[in-house]
Amino acid sequence: MDAPNKEFALAGNLEELKAKGRLVVHGGHRPILVIYDRGRIFALDNRCPHMGFPLERGSVEDSILTCHWHHARFDLESGCTFDLWADDVPICPIEVRNGDVWVKTTFGHADPAAHWHQRLADGLAHNIGLVIAKAVHGQLAADVPPADVVRQVALFGAQNRDGWGVGLTILTALANLLPVLPEEEAYLALFHGARRVAADCDGEAPRRERAPLGSRPVLAVLKRWLRYWTNVRHREAAERTLLTAIAAGLSPAVLANAVLAADTERAFADTGHSLDFINKAFECLDLIGWEHAAALLPTVVGQMVAARGAEESTAWRQPVDLVALCNEATSQLPELFATGHGVHGWSDHAALARELLGDDPARNIDALKTAIRAGAAPADLSRSLAYAAALRVARFGNANEHADWETAHHVFTYTNAVDQMFKRIGSVNTIDHVAAVRGVLHGAMALYLTRYLNVPPARIPGEGGEQLDDLPTNAETIRAALLDAFDRQRQVDLAARLVARHLTLGHPPQALIATLAHAVLREDAGFHAYQMLEAGVRQFTAWGDSNEGRHILLAVARYLAAHSPTERAALQTADIAQRLMRGGELHQEAEAS
Ligand code: FES
Repeated sequence: MDAPNKEFALAGNLEELKAKGRLVVHGGHRPILVIYDRGRIFALDNRCPHMGFPLERGSVEDSILTCHWHHARFDLESGCTFDLWADDVPICPIEVRNGDVWVKTTFGHADPAAHWHQRLADGLAHNIGLVIAKAVHGQLAADVPPADVVRQVALFGAQNRDGWGVGLTILTALANLLPVLPEEEAYLALFHGARRVAADCDGEAPRRERAPLGSRPVLAVLKRWLRYWTNVRHREAAERTLLTAIAAGLSPAVLANAVLAADTERAFADTGHSLDFINKAFECLDLIGWEHAAALLPTVVGQMVAARGAEESTAWRQPVDLVALCNEATSQLPELFATGHGVHGWSDHAALARELLGDDPARNIDALKTAIRAGAAPADLSRSLAYAAALRVARFGNANEHADWETAHHVFTYTNAVDQMFKRIGSVNTIDHVAAVRGVLHGAMALYLTRYLNVPPARIPGEGGEQLDDLPTNAETIRAALLDAFDRQRQVDLAARLVARHLTLGHPPQALIATLAHAVLREDAGFHAYQMLEAGVRQFTAWGDSNEGRHILLAVARYLAAHSPTERAALQTADIAQRLMRGGELHQEAEAS
């Protein structure tokens, strides 16, 4: 009874195996199924890789093992599946010594990081959530940095779809949140990002490569061309121009200014989605490395040149021509910024935000002009604007239709994108940014058009003398109550009150943000929920634990509460994958419970 080494366990006597056809080896390891078939011995993980059903209860025919749960079929020798949705079943070596059968009880791969990298590639290519979940879990367990996983998924998404999409936006939003998430949530965040990218690419034609021009025109020419090609909707020309700008080694800030100027050729393009996607592509490159700019950045051009501008909509033309207001203000921007140049210390962000919520679009534009004259930089304007848009969500009246949440959401995430772009562009040489500042003007008009969403305005909890003493005081109790509120429909006001309670008592906002993130990650969240969460956290970070910061987080909570709960099917997939990867016997656990 000599064991080959201590990693091997005795499965049984060969004659016994021949007689029974199969044996299961239990111990401090995964259950292992040993099968005798046509004179050969095979050993496999006894848990079906799909959902853990014991494979010992399956059947073998023609060297194919069939699981009797959902009928996935596996090659006995390699463990490879014929049904890709089920994943391959791990196999393990066997040795026969002195008439006894020994099996190696440790499963593993010579290079786990490389193995799970390949499995993630497989899962993405075939859009199989379970394989994606296991591969993400496997990579993290192999100490692959999360940024490497994001890079693999982002480049897959860029190459396997003809343009930036919802999936890459979700991936980037969740990757941005990783630093504020507890470690155990990183798996779930990366899984959601990866599965949404895979779903976006499923059945899509891959992206066709374009090349930069052979020349290297100066920046002013490239910017002018990019705006022109966007205007005339010439995608190839715009892509080649952008690729040339990247090949010329222009900095991310300069590229951001050029692309923002081009995108704002149309007002509030595609209800803000075009700029949202552009901003996320820039943020994605911050995460995965700017050496991938040529692969990633041109993916936003298709939507940018094809986008429908708000100038084509009646609401922007009648009864007030908002586009004309923006155009007039744009023509004045060089002079306004020249007046404000050299004036330092402008800090009336919150006051400007309140003015931007006014009912007169011309006065709202005047408020921006006054701020510029007083020294406000583009990033100051965009910060005020984003806060004002968050207030629109925070005060969203419950009498509105449910679909109206998305109207408020679009303005908030658009203005956040404008704000992030101007943070990237910076304040040096403001005159160079005049065209891009149209993004602020357009955002201000989109905000004006959504004023009806605050009629009547929802009360901001904890203000105007409202007491919140009916709510718990303990931080963990408040957060548990918040998750419970998200677990029920239409708890919009309660969710906001709990967030206000948490923050006004001085409890750490980081724990509250982690709770909000958990509330999103456990759901089959819609695209907008991820955007709202991430934009809210970004804006909260800018304002800090202040009145304004509180308003922003309770806006996030109100939106999320209006969209929770969901079926949580993705969470179930993630949970099954995690338990299988950790060695759990899912089926037996389910039977015992
Ligand atoms: S096919 Fe085996 S558990 Fe589903």
